[in-house]
Amino acid sequence: QNQGPLKGKNILVTAGPTRESIDPVRYFSNYSSGKMGYAIAQALRDKGADVTLISGPAQLTPPDDVEVVYIESTLEMYEEVMKRYPKADAVVKSAAVSDYRPKHTSQHKVKKSEGPVTIEMVRNPDILKELGEKKEQQILIGFAAETRDVADYAKKKLENKNLDMIVANNVLEADAGFQSDTNRVTFFYRHGKTESFELLSKNVVANHLADALISLFEEREQH
Ligand code: C5P
Repeated sequence: QNQGPLKGKNILVTAGPTRESIDPVRYFSNYSSGKMGYAIAQALRDKGADVTLISGPAQLTPPDDVEVVYIESTLEMYEEVMKRYPKADAVVKSAAVSDYRPKHTSQHKVKKSEGPVTIEMVRNPDILKELGEKKEQQILIGFAAETRDVADYAKKKLENKNLDMIVANNVLEADAGFQSDTNRVTFFYRHGKTESFELLSKNVVANHLADALISLFEEREQH
């Protein structure tokens, strides 16, 4: 049994990219490394939580004493998250989820032909939005990776997805975002509070996030 301020809390963390298959040898994905999500899983475990890490393909060793569930596609992530949601006390959605997937996945390798090719894409479910709609006791923390107007987009997502907090960062900034070991983030809380941090290692950002979650639980328990 883990010890610490998050003892007894069941927390789901999603991390990494997703892969959306075109055929057996090709996929659509993004540059997410999973570093932020893995660091969060570790920080929450260190503060006593029971952590389940739902991870897309990442070249990282998962932290000890964390249950790890590997997925590839957004639909697989959706299944694994939804299944565990009713028993979760909090969800931290740091995965870079693909908004679209190819309408058809070919069973066999697609052969080249002369001229251009068109792949029809359909929308994936917005997992976090659905969690927000079904929210009961859970605290929800989302991420907003943006390339411009970070604060505006982040605040809109906080509201649209019914979150308790959103972590915003500009992924075009040097030393921040997808592959980096460091990040420069702002936390936007539901009740209007914001906290901006300087450039920090992802491990330190993860510790701040864990502290933020502890204060959100405390606030919840006072009401
Ligand atoms: O709307 P946007 O994708 O920018 O929001 C980002 C947040 O929503 C992240 O926390 C991400 O994990 C989550 N998300 C999701 N399902 C999607 C798209 C994003 O859970 N299909």
